[in-house]
Order: sequence, then structure tokens, then C-alpha cells
Amino acid sequence: MHDHTRHASEIAREAGAILREGQRHPFAIDMKGNRDLVTSVDTASEKLILDRIRQNYPDDRIVAEESAPVAPGEGTGTCSRAWIVDPLDGTNNFAHGYPFYCVAIAVEEAGEVVTGVVYDPLRDEMFVAERGAGATLNGKRIRVSDASLLGDSIVATGFPYDRSAASENNLGNLSRFILSVRGIRRAGSAELDLAYVACGRLDGFWELGLKIWDVAAGGLLVLEAGGAVSQTDGSDWDHSRGDIVASNGRVHDEMLAVLRAPELGVD
Ligand code: IPD
Ligand code: CA
Ligand code: CA
Repeated sequence: MHDHTRHASEIAREAGAILREGQRHPFAIDMKGNRDLVTSVDTASEKLILDRIRQNYPDDRIVAEESAPVAPGEGTGTCSRAWIVDPLDGTNNFAHGYPFYCVAIAVEEAGEVVTGVVYDPLRDEMFVAERGAGATLNGKRIRVSDASLLGDSIVATGFPYDRSAASENNLGNLSRFILSVRGIRRAGSAELDLAYVACGRLDGFWELGLKIWDVAAGGLLVLEAGGAVSQTDGSDWDHSRGDIVASNGRVHDEMLAVLRAPELGVD
């Protein structure tokens, strides 16, 4: 395991403890936008993560959700390596006490995600992927599921915070998927959804309008667990784009076909 992968998982575990403890005490909630919350625990987790990265890798770039928004390829530091950080993925869940959220940290080198770490502090589950070296859950190798039909699959998705105004609100896709699959879940943490695809608890996941920190770590987990990841139009996965389809590979084409199908009730 590379040093940056080991550090990413150590930092994610430390930040996870902040989330676990933070849930047990009162915390402040601010609105970033309609439905889009940020809590004092998001901020505390991000501070810890950024402090640790800067201590160990002072020249590396950092792209982190709660800091000044920066485009991929920008960020602090001068190095070609970048750390992509979601200090608390599933903030709405956290704010409501719904136990499904995580810390996600990815490392990007030369434009490619090389390390992905997703840590669920409530279940003490550490998902780690390193490009070319596979994916693990608490140190044990994980693989995607072997479902071969979408009709036998459970898939997950999510909806953008600005869905009242967004042209792409994902509702058309939802209505088609719900008729094509065994079950749909909307658990509220894209990174943990992707980790669940990687370890075979879900057979697929798609979402639109995400940010780089919502998908970078989990996308690599799925690839390194033997799955497939692409854009919703079927083109190669680009972690800096907001739409994603991830699956066990076997049901990927069926998922893309559902996303391409015309709206229900439209000839
Ligand atoms: C959100 C979660 C959610 C997804 C949203 C994301 P946040 O991240 O991943 O599942 O549907 O689009 O913004 O705001 O909790 O870090
Ligand atoms: Ca997120
Ligand atoms: Ca977040």
C-alpha cells in the first residue's frame, strides 16, 4: 500500500471519530442553499482532514467541499497530486440522526484517481481502493455482486438539492428504473452507495448533478472491485463530471438502456 493510501485511511478514521462523537452532542446547522445543509461537524471534520494532509504533504493540492470551491485542476498547493475530500457525505442524514453517512477521501495523480477511501464511522467499515491493487473492506478483499439481470437487482440513486429548479431532476429515470429492478434505495450518501456497489450489497447506482468529492473515492472502489463505472451516456468515467453509473458490470448495459429510454407516456 502506498503511503498516501495508508495516510488517507488513517485520516478518514480520525475524521470519522469526529462524526461519531459529533452526533452525540448538539451541533450547529447552516443552510448553504435550499435543502443543502452544512453542520459544525462537517466543518470540524474538514479542518482535521486538511490539517493532516498539509502536515504530511505540504505541496499537494486539496479540493475539499467546505473550503473555497475550486475547479478540478486547481486548488491549494503546487504538486500534480490532489486530495479530493468530502468530510461528511450524507449531511442531511447526519442532521436528522439517520445513520448513513461517511468520510470520503480520494487521491488524484495526473488527472487519474489512484486512491479511494470511504469510512463509515457508525459501522466501523473502512473501504479502501488503490488503482491496480484491488479494493478491501476492513482489510479483506471485496468484489461486486454477480447479479446478471437488472430485474434481479437492487440499485440506488439520489436527487440534486436544486431539484425544484434543475432541468435534470432524475424523476424520469426513477420512474423507469422502478419498473425495471427488484428494488431501489435512496439512502442519502453517494460515496457510501458506491462503496456498497463495490462490496456487492448493491448491484448498481446512478446519479446526476454530483460533485467530484461525491464520486472520486467510490468510483475507484467499484472499478477495483471488478465493477464498471461510466457516465450516464455510456462514455468513459470522468470523476470530475457530475453524472455517474456504477454497477457490477453485468447489469451495466441494461442500466444505460433504462437511462436512454424515452420518458414514460411519451411516444
Ligand atoms: C450529498 C449526498 C447525497 C447526494 C447529494 C450529495 P452531501 O452529499 O451524497 O446522497 O444525493 O447529491 O450532494 O451534501 O451530504 O455531502
Ligand atoms: Ca457529498
Ligand atoms: Ca459533504
